[in-house]
Amino acid sequence: MALLIKGGRIITASDDYVGDILCEGECITQIAPQLEPVDGAEVIDAAGKYVFPGFIDPHVHIYLPFMGTYSKDTYDSGSRAALVGGTTTLIEMCCPSRQEEPLEALELWKSKATDSACDYTYHMGVSRFDESASSQLREIVNQGIASFKIFLAYKGAFGVTDQELFDTLSLAKELGVIVTAHCENETLVAALQQQLVAEGRTGPEWHERSRPTRVEAEGVHHLMTFAEMTGAHVYCVHTSCRESLEAVEAARMRGTRAWVETVIPYLTLDRTYSELPDFEGAKYVMSPPLRDPIHKPYLWAGLRSRLISTVATDHAPFDFSGQKEMGRDNFTLIPNGIPSVEDRVNLLYTHGVCQGRIDLQTFVDAASTQAARLFGLYPRKGTIQVGSDADLVIYDPDYRGKISVETQNMDVDYSAYEGWEIEGRPSVVTVRGQVQAREGEFVGTLGQGKLLTREPTHF
Ligand code: URP
Ligand code: ZN
Ligand code: ZN
Repeated sequence: MALLIKGGRIITASDDYVGDILCEGECITQIAPQLEPVDGAEVIDAAGKYVFPGFIDPHVHIYLPFMGTYSKDTYDSGSRAALVGGTTTLIEMCCPSRQEEPLEALELWKSKATDSACDYTYHMGVSRFDESASSQLREIVNQGIASFKIFLAYKGAFGVTDQELFDTLSLAKELGVIVTAHCENETLVAALQQQLVAEGRTGPEWHERSRPTRVEAEGVHHLMTFAEMTGAHVYCVHTSCRESLEAVEAARMRGTRAWVETVIPYLTLDRTYSELPDFEGAKYVMSPPLRDPIHKPYLWAGLRSRLISTVATDHAPFDFSGQKEMGRDNFTLIPNGIPSVEDRVNLLYTHGVCQGRIDLQTFVDAASTQAARLFGLYPRKGTIQVGSDADLVIYDPDYRGKISVETQNMDVDYSAYEGWEIEGRPSVVTVRGQVQAREGEFVGTLGQGKLLTREPTHF
């Protein structure tokens, strides 16, 4: 059915104007100050509301075998949560183990997504690089999965050697794909963890001390050096601190093609949450860790100045009961991750736009447009223009409410933001012209989501 969205304030990464949008088929077909409904079109009154392009979360984990367990969401719960929160495209990390074959792993990850109600694609994890992996990665890029993911952390699990890092970046350069990277020095993390545990420092409050900012910045600097030597384009995922930003800025000044992602937990939470008593802090254990509050103003400034391109979630949901509890006697066994795919957009709007830290254009750019541009989805996604997919978020800035585990769609037994107030939320969310969420409820169809294929763009 056609959709006519009338009188909304249309906000893109560069524009701000009032107009009508007509969606037919799966695309935006007309934008004008005043449009008449076509036969049978649903008309949505967007007066007093914003119309944003569908938001893109470029870093989520839905299916993730990790630290002796599995992340909690499926595409049923995860895509419903994303949509209710205004995210219409997910980019999931496909994270095979060292033993898995890349092509088989991609098929496995794809098989988990058939229920998706939102569109999705993958960053292809490289956890082993040899001749066979190399030819499979070429095939994967040919299939339209045009970005890689590497881990410099998680020794003995996903982490790659320096030779594998060099080979992956060299292949990426040749193929024109960007490499996303988790940057922490795995040797230092392992040594510091061992030291702390031996000293009897076993609670979640010690997690941050086992992976201090310098350890993250060393990983970033390491990646920058390899990017400089190979000419590959790189993207630092979940950047948490000033030292890492400085390392990227310095590398950029030397000509390295590097981009920065931060995630909503670093902009809104801090280390004090992981110090909460009675093991409550385990809910806030992720890697890199939540930092001293002093880092937050640097992250907001980095976002404002566009040194940081994207705000993702690194959504990685593990129940408190039975999963986080695996590390009750030893913080190194707490599954790492904080769920937030449902809350990212509302938190960024509330704490960014409403608090005057970022303007509406930066908000859209960081939560949608930059991810589309960097990962080969633009202008199909990430903007509002004729010909783009009709992924739209009609956003009500007058809504006031609270985040709670009681009302969330994410399939996890706690909210890291329990009781937090939000100022605004999506009123209507469409994916390729289909209404999938209204006023905090999923009203769409599971399985409507499409796997998005992408061309290499980083030559
Ligand atoms: O703590 C985190 N970040 N968990 C998910 C895995 C990863 O490193 O992205
Ligand atoms: Zn990571
Ligand atoms: Zn992640």
